[in-house]
Amino acid sequence: MRPNPAPLLLLAACLPLVYTLSNVEELKSQERLFLHSLGLSGRPRPAGSLQARRHVPSALWKMFRSSENIKVQESDPCTVSEYGVRGNIIRYVQDQGRLVSGWSSCQLCVEKQLFFNMSVLQPVELLSLAQLEIKFHWKPFSHAELLQGPRALSVSLYKVIRATLRGANAQANRRLLLSQSVQLQPDPASITLDLTSLGESWRKPGRNYGLVLELLPLSADPEDLLPFRPGNSLPLEPTFTLPLIQASLVAVSLNPHQCRSRQRRSAVHLPVTPSNVCKARRLYIDFKDVGWQDWIIAPQGYMANYCHGECPFPLSESLNGTNHAILQTLVHSLDPNSTPQPCCVPIRLSPISMLYYDNNDNVVLRHYQDMVVDECGCR
Ligand SMILES: *[C@@H]1O[C@H](CO)[C@@H](O)[C@H](O)[C@H]1NC(C)=O
Ligand SMILES: *[C@@H]1O[C@H](CO)[C@@H](O)[C@H](O)[C@H]1NC(C)=O
Repeated sequence: MRPNPAPLLLLAACLPLVYTLSNVEELKSQERLFLHSLGLSGRPRPAGSLQARRHVPSALWKMFRSSENIKVQESDPCTVSEYGVRGNIIRYVQDQGRLVSGWSSCQLCVEKQLFFNMSVLQPVELLSLAQLEIKFHWKPFSHAELLQGPRALSVSLYKVIRATLRGANAQANRRLLLSQSVQLQPDPASITLDLTSLGESWRKPGRNYGLVLELLPLSADPEDLLPFRPGNSLPLEPTFTLPLIQASLVAVSLNPHQCRSRQRRSAVHLPVTPSNVCKARRLYIDFKDVGWQDWIIAPQGYMANYCHGECPFPLSESLNGTNHAILQTLVHSLDPNSTPQPCCVPIRLSPISMLYYDNNDNVVLRHYQDMVVDECGCR
């Protein structure tokens, strides 16, 4: 990581810049402060290379791009219109379950556990939606298999209500949530299911036993539908290639403390005229410069700006001073050594949206307030 003091400029507008590049501890603690406000316990260290990383769902990209184009005062900052629910954080919580088999009462079934770690949500967050998405990517094993026409799977989804030990009666510990058949075609098929209340119950420690997905291959030929009865051992392989299953839980939640208006002045163009009077200055923060490019997906950087300049006597109206600041400049002008000038600080900030990987490798889209300085004033 190449340390860069840029973000500190925002925090230390009126202090002399005593931070030095060698002051690594100070930088670390500032980084922690920022990560904490993003709801992260530490700097995410996503596993693997950038290429091997979990891809960003196209729906999230779309939402990120549309949030970038939000016009002034348009839309409620805490509503996710794509899902029609309250929220300012959208996570694609990834499935951590394993493929298992032989646990089921059904001999020819293949089972997959689904597990979504909901403790990535902070306690303060209110969960508005948890929507399960299961995608079935089917690539026929052979040309012959493709020629046999569309294949179908009977899919049953259970919630596990208590921990199950191998060999125990698994059926007693689960409740059926959904049962349907899925046609397998070269285009991915998918199932979505609202699991909001279950997702909420998974947030309690020790209460998340996950889900079980039970797959039973169905033949295309109605005559062959029954051979999967127990006892009739039709081989699953190689006549039937199981699809690759990709499951994620879209969790939309609301951090009620981050719900002020999303007013944004569309592309603030700051003048570049030289002046030493308090005003907003251009500052582009490149996340690469702070060493965050491996976990922040987008944007790669943004125009953050900062406030800098003097608050001289007499304080003109354009410096947006408080009555207090006006009096302070007056006192300062009478005795510069006893009282400093007021500080040039941000008085209006606007939010940006960020797309990043959290500590669990989930993709998160979140709106962050107070990321861009729009206006400065003497305070
Ligand atoms: C879930 O995530 C939390 C926070 O990242 C972690 O501490 C915990 O170990 C995870 N639990 C499981 C079962 O993976
Ligand atoms: C003070 O606020 C006005 C708008 O309210 C703005 O145009 C001006 O740039 C602000 N002054 C500074 C120093 O940013």
